[in-house]
Amino acid sequence: MEKPVSTLDECTPPTGMSVGEFEELRSKIFRLKKEMNALIVAHNYQRPEVQDIADFVGDSLELARQGKETGADVIVLCGVRFMAENCVIVNPSRTVLLAEGSAGCPMADMIEVEDVREWRARYPKAAVVCYVNTSAAVKAESDVCCTSANALQVVDATPNDEIIFIPDQNLGHWVSTKTTKKVYPYPGFCVTHHRLTAGQVRAAREAHPEAKVIAHPECTAEVLALADAVLSTSQMIRYVKESSAKVFLVGTEAGLLHRMARENPDKTLYVISNALLCPNMKRTTLRSVATTMELERNVIKIPEEIRARAQRALERMLQIS
Ligand code: 13P
Ligand code: SF4
Repeated sequence: MEKPVSTLDECTPPTGMSVGEFEELRSKIFRLKKEMNALIVAHNYQRPEVQDIADFVGDSLELARQGKETGADVIVLCGVRFMAENCVIVNPSRTVLLAEGSAGCPMADMIEVEDVREWRARYPKAAVVCYVNTSAAVKAESDVCCTSANALQVVDATPNDEIIFIPDQNLGHWVSTKTTKKVYPYPGFCVTHHRLTAGQVRAAREAHPEAKVIAHPECTAEVLALADAVLSTSQMIRYVKESSAKVFLVGTEAGLLHRMARENPDKTLYVISNALLCPNMKRTTLRSVATTMELERNVIKIPEEIRARAQRALERMLQIS
């Protein structure tokens, strides 16, 4: 398990919040955490001040692992709904609170159970590989899950020669260029990563010719073709740490740069476009975390019949990678 990313004295209040309120909210969160025996986990795209109160900050795969392995009674998930659902799916004995109840993922909403059934009927020999950015009900219809960190590994480990890849067309297309299997990508996409254009990447490269370009596989094929490396959010952090390069152009949600900059003070980092902001990821604030813990609200519940089938798909992934 990674260490917490910060200590109290390293943190500063977000714009518009007084130091007094900031400290009060942080103290409240830490007190409630102890009283509830809670683990706070945050996705790499969360606001800096939310990342700073978390016990663990990571990518989707790491958050699912934390959810499975924790001994805490309560998991407070700072991220979007499917991430909190993943924790319930793999660890139903814990209480899982979604810090901000309205935080969803538009890509996850682009596919429903009926769509998966229709695609299965269309490609009867294919296995369904399901990106974790999906509802529990869609996972329950799938053979195996994957994240951006292990999608290729999961596809290659699946016995079928044909793969229905849901719901991200870009990750699905990227995997199809790396595997010998026939991949049918479902036409979903991330509204945030889709905003990044190849023209913006070229312009950034021209301005910083010495830089390495790293991109998330939810970006379009044109963008990925221009990248030096295509990586999940936590893989990007490791890449920057281990690379001898000094300047990086980052093609993913801007929140990632908080942790990346802290862990790499000797490197210069640029997010390629200021439009790379996920509004859903930014909904979680210190206030929402504190209130959710205080009221024990936003408890994530999944009908057992769906949870058990979704667990099969998620556990298969966790065994593969
Ligand atoms: P990671 O698994 O790479 O953290 O990505 C999750 C996500 O929602 C990207 O948009
Ligand atoms: Fe969903 Fe995209 Fe936001 Fe990730 S960045 S949570 S895929 S909308």
